[in-house]
Amino acid sequence: NNESSGSGKETLTFGTEATFAPFESMEGDKVVGFDADLLDAVMKEAGLDYEFKNTGWDPMLVGVKDESLAGGAAGITITDERKETYDFSAPYFEAMQTIATTEGTDIQSAEDIKGMKIGVQNGTTGDSAAQQLVGENSTDISKYESSAATMMALQNGDVEVVITDNGVAQHYVKNNPDANLTLIDDKDSFEQEYYGILLPKGSEHKEAIDEAMQTIMENGTYEEIYSEWFEG
Ligand code: ARG
Repeated sequence: NNESSGSGKETLTFGTEATFAPFESMEGDKVVGFDADLLDAVMKEAGLDYEFKNTGWDPMLVGVKDESLAGGAAGITITDERKETYDFSAPYFEAMQTIATTEGTDIQSAEDIKGMKIGVQNGTTGDSAAQQLVGENSTDISKYESSAATMMALQNGDVEVVITDNGVAQHYVKNNPDANLTLIDDKDSFEQEYYGILLPKGSEHKEAIDEAMQTIMENGTYEEIYSEWFEG
């Protein structure tokens, strides 16, 4: 629902999948997290009115594609495949896939999870990584609609491992000590990833958003937001 604001400017709606702390999670009916603060800083700097909605992952991708949404901010990795359909802002965060599993595991590298039940969030880079490892149509891969659902499946024993983004996995392990989870990094198997704000192809706002991103990276705002969510 794009309502015009008091200033008469159009309100741009951004979508997300808000079970991805510390990047996005729900606090009451508000999306909070690194991405929420970053988007807020960027949009203010760009002078654009916006709202940030927990649409869910697939509806976000569909909405940005058909331009019912102005964009998405959800720890979204900039990939060549997505670039065929979407534009992205300048990159704002470095990430990599990691393997989450139960403490006491024998797993040492990605190779070792072949033959195991793997949980991923559907349509994410974790999903792609799993497919690359065990095959596109492998029945060992279970796909979930949200990031939270993958971690639930791991704790329930529905899957033996989850492939997901390192920042989110680290945050989850730290904040759920009773889950007895551990992480296995494998820099040889997983690629470096960079998050960007997802935009419709040819978005008229890309230039303003990129300029604003550069400004907040140079004027200390980015650093402030970073230390709020990743230190202390
Ligand atoms: N970085 C990964 C990707 O872009 C996962 C993002 C998932 N984000 C979320 N809010 N659930 O595919």
